[in-house]
Amino acid sequence: MANNTAKLDLDGKIYELPLIVGSENEKAIDIASLRAQTNHITFDDGYGNTGSCKSEITFIDGDLGILRYRGYPIEELAEKSSFIEVSYLLIWGHLPNKAELTEFSNLLSQEQTIHANMKHHFEGFPSTAHPMAILSSMINAVSAYYPELLEGYNPAHFKLQAARLISQVRSIAAFSYRQSHGLPIIYPKKSLKYTPNFIHMMFSEPYDEFVIDPAVTKALDLIFLLHADHEQNCSTSTVRMVGSSRANLFASTAAGVCALWGPLHGGANQAVIEMLLEIHASGDDGRKFIEAAKDKNSGKKLMGFGHRVYKNYDPRAMIIKKACDDVLKALKINDPLLDIAKHLETAALSDPYFVERKLYPNVDFYSGIIMRAIGIPVEMFTVIFAIGRMPGWIANYKEVSDNQGTRIYRPRQIYTGPINQKYIPIDQR
Ligand code: ACO
Repeated sequence: MANNTAKLDLDGKIYELPLIVGSENEKAIDIASLRAQTNHITFDDGYGNTGSCKSEITFIDGDLGILRYRGYPIEELAEKSSFIEVSYLLIWGHLPNKAELTEFSNLLSQEQTIHANMKHHFEGFPSTAHPMAILSSMINAVSAYYPELLEGYNPAHFKLQAARLISQVRSIAAFSYRQSHGLPIIYPKKSLKYTPNFIHMMFSEPYDEFVIDPAVTKALDLIFLLHADHEQNCSTSTVRMVGSSRANLFASTAAGVCALWGPLHGGANQAVIEMLLEIHASGDDGRKFIEAAKDKNSGKKLMGFGHRVYKNYDPRAMIIKKACDDVLKALKINDPLLDIAKHLETAALSDPYFVERKLYPNVDFYSGIIMRAIGIPVEMFTVIFAIGRMPGWIANYKEVSDNQGTRIYRPRQIYTGPINQKYIPIDQR
C-alpha cells in the first residue's frame, strides 16, 4: 500500500494521496481530493508540473528526446509514413489498413471544397489581415454551415467531421493566402493527394498550373507530420479546454488556432525567419545577436531555441534538419539565412548560457528555412503549423468527448488582489 500513495504532512495531519503510473512509467500524485480533504489547492504557475488529463495519444520524454505518436517513434513515422496516414493513426488510435485509408482519403477528397457562400467571408477581410486571423475565423464559420454540429459530439458523424476539418483547413489556408495577395482563388483537384493539392491551391494560376517538385511535396508533408501532435502544449490544451465545455469541434479547434498564433508557440517559425532577416540586414553574423539574447534587458530571445519539455534535444529538429539540407540541395537554393542559422546553432550550442539552460534548436528553427525555400511567405508559416497540428487537436478533442467522465476544465487560482474595497462614487475619485 505504501508504494501506491504519497503522504502529505500538513498542519500536523497526514494525508494520503494516490499515485498514478502511466504506461511509460510516468508518475503522478493524484490530488483530485486534496481541496476537499485539506482546503488547499496546488499552485503551479504555467502548469509545468501539472498533468491535466490522462491521454493515450502521444508520449514525450523531454529528457531523453523521445516523441511517439500512439506508441510509434516519430523517427520511424517520418521515414515510412505520410501525414494522412499519421492523421488517421492519431485520431483513431491505429494505423489504417488499405480499406480504411482509402475510405479516409475519399472523405478528404469529397470534403475539400468549402461552401460556395464562404467565398464572401474571405472577401470581407482587409488585404492586411494576418492569415491566422482568417484561418481561425473561417474554421469557426464552417460550423455555421453544418447545423448538426450544434447537436454536440456525435461519434456517428465524427469521421465525416474530422475529415471535413482536415481537408477544409488546407483549402481555407490556401484561399486566405490567395485572397491576402489579391490572387484569384484556385480550387482543389480531386486527382491530387493532400499535400500536392495544397501546393497546387497555393501556387497554381488559372492559366498556368504549378509544376510540383517531389522534393517540395516530401518536405512539406514531413513538416505536417512532425507537427501533427505534441501532447498538452498550449494550443492542444486550449482545444481540450474548449471541448470540455461541449463546444463543437470547429469552435474548439478555431480556439486552438488562436493559441497557436502566439510567437512563443506556433508563431516561433515566423519569428525565426524575422530574426535571421534582422541579423542579415544588420551585417551581423549572429554573434551580436547571441550576446543580446543572453541579456534579459535586451528583449531578444534566440527564436527557435529552447522548449518547455525537451531539455536534451528536440527529436523533430534532428529529422527536419536533414530534410532542410535535402530540399535546399534539390532546389539548388543557396540561402544566406541558412548560413546565419547554422552559425547561430554552432555558436549557441557551445555557449555556456545555452548549454547550462539546456536550450537546443527546436523544430521551428529549421521548418521556417524549408518553407522559405519552398516559396511560402513568412506570414503563412504558422498556418502551415496549424494544418499539421489539426489531427492532433482532433484526436485530443475526440478523447475529451469520448470520455464520459470528463468534467468541464476549470482550474483554480490564488487570489492576490486587493481586499475589502469600498465603492467610491466617480466624482470623489
Ligand atoms: N533565448 C534566450 N534565452 C532563453 C531562450 C531563448 N530562446 N529560451 C529560454 N531562455 C532562458 C530564459 O530566459 C530562462 O533563463 P533564466 O533561467 O536565466 O531566467 C531559461 O532559459 C529558462 O527558460 P524559460 O523561459 O523558463 O523556459 P520555458 O520552458 O518557460 O519556455 C520557450 C520555453 C517558450 C520555448 C522558450 O524557450 C522560448 O521563448 N524560446 C523561443 C521561442 C521558440 O522558439 N518557441 C517555439 C517553441 S516549440 C513550439 O512551439 C513548436
